[in-house]
Amino acid sequence: MTTTVSYHDWDNRYRDWTEEVLDAVRQVADSDEFILKSRVAELERRVAERTGAAHAIAVANGTGALTVILAALGIGPGDEVVTPAFSFISTASTVALRGAKPVFADVDADTACLDLAAAEAAVTDRTRAVLPAYLFTTHPDMTGLAELAERRGVALVEDSAVGLGATVDGRQAGRFGTAGVYSFFPAKPIGGAGDAGMVVTDDDDLARDIRMLRNHGQDLGVRFLHHKVGFNCRMDEITAAFLLQRLPKLDGFLTARRQIAEEYQERLAHLAPDLLTPPDGYDHRAVYTYVVRAARRDELKEFLAGEGIETVVYYPKPLHLQPAFAYLGHRPGDFPVAEQLAREALALPLHPDMRPGDVARVASAVERFYRGAR
Ligand SMILES: Cc1ncc(COP(=O)(O)O)c(C=O)c1O
Repeated sequence: MTTTVSYHDWDNRYRDWTEEVLDAVRQVADSDEFILKSRVAELERRVAERTGAAHAIAVANGTGALTVILAALGIGPGDEVVTPAFSFISTASTVALRGAKPVFADVDADTACLDLAAAEAAVTDRTRAVLPAYLFTTHPDMTGLAELAERRGVALVEDSAVGLGATVDGRQAGRFGTAGVYSFFPAKPIGGAGDAGMVVTDDDDLARDIRMLRNHGQDLGVRFLHHKVGFNCRMDEITAAFLLQRLPKLDGFLTARRQIAEEYQERLAHLAPDLLTPPDGYDHRAVYTYVVRAARRDELKEFLAGEGIETVVYYPKPLHLQPAFAYLGHRPGDFPVAEQLAREALALPLHPDMRPGDVARVASAVERFYRGAR
C-alpha cells in the first residue's frame, strides 16, 4: 500500500521552507558571520521580547539548553533531580550526564506529564531541582510545580522544548521556573532548518553563567579566558537567520495545528471506550503531536499502515526501563502510568500544511478500525 498520509510530509509541509532556507544560506554566505553573531543576537532579542524573559540565550539544541542550565545551577554528583518517567530521553540524560541522579516520578494519565503529587513524593533532602516536561499537546501542572519548587527550596527547570508559544494559566510556557528551554528541532511547531535551542530566564547571574557555559566557559569579553569548564553549545548564524523568518509565523503555525487537533478531537473523542484522546481545550496550547491512547495500539497502528497512514509511537519505552538507566535498578511496575502510556500512545499525522481532507482520511480510517471493518 502506498502512503496516502505521511507523518511528517516534508514535501508538502511549510511550502515556503525551501526559499527561506536558501535565503538564510545566502545571507550568511554574503557575510563574514558564522556563529554567535548578529543574527543570533537578534533572535535572542526577539525571543526575549516574545516571552517577556529578561534573558534569552541561544544554544545549539534543546538538549544543550537543559545541559547548560543544569551546569549553571551547579548540579552534579550527590544531587538529585525529580523528573518524569515518561518523556524524551533528554529530560533525564542531561541530569545523568552532570553526574547527578535522575529521580523518576510517574506521570498524570490525562496529560502524560509529570504528576504533581508524585513529584512532591519524590523530593528528598538531596533534591536540587524539579524538571518537568511538556509533551504532545499538553503541559504539566506548572503552577502547582512552581509552588512545590518554591516551598521545597529547589530550582524548577522547565523542559518546554515543545512549548514555545503556549500559555499555561495565562503565563508563557518556559516562564514558570528558574529557567526554561525551547527546541527548534525541525519537527517542532516553529521548526528550524537543523538543530537549535534557546534558554530563557530572569536570573541575571544564571544568564551570565549560561552565556559563558555555552561557549567553553569563556569570558564574555575576553577571548581565551575561561572562567568555567564549559561546552561548545553555540547557535550558528544560518540557523538563526532561518528562525528569524519563522518566528513571526509561529502563531499562524500554532493556530493551524490547533485546528487540526480540534478536528481530530471532534471525530475521535467519543468513538470508542478504549480510545482516549488528549484533554480538550486547545486554545492556548502548543500542539506538537496529536497522541491518542489506544488499548489495542499496535493493532491500530498496523491497520492504519495498511490504509497508507503513517503514525509514530511516542515513546515506546518509559525512561526508567531504558537500558541506559538500568543502573538505577528500576523494575516494570515502578511507574504504572508511564508504562501504560508506552504501551498505548500513538501519534497521528499533524502538521500545518496537511492537504485538505487528510485529517478526515485519518479520522475515517480510525473509525473503520473501531467499527470493526477489519
Ligand atoms: C520533551 C523534550 N525535551 C527535550 C528535547 C530536546 O530537544 P533537542 O532535540 O533540540 O535537543 C525534545 C526534543 O526532541 C523534547 O521533545
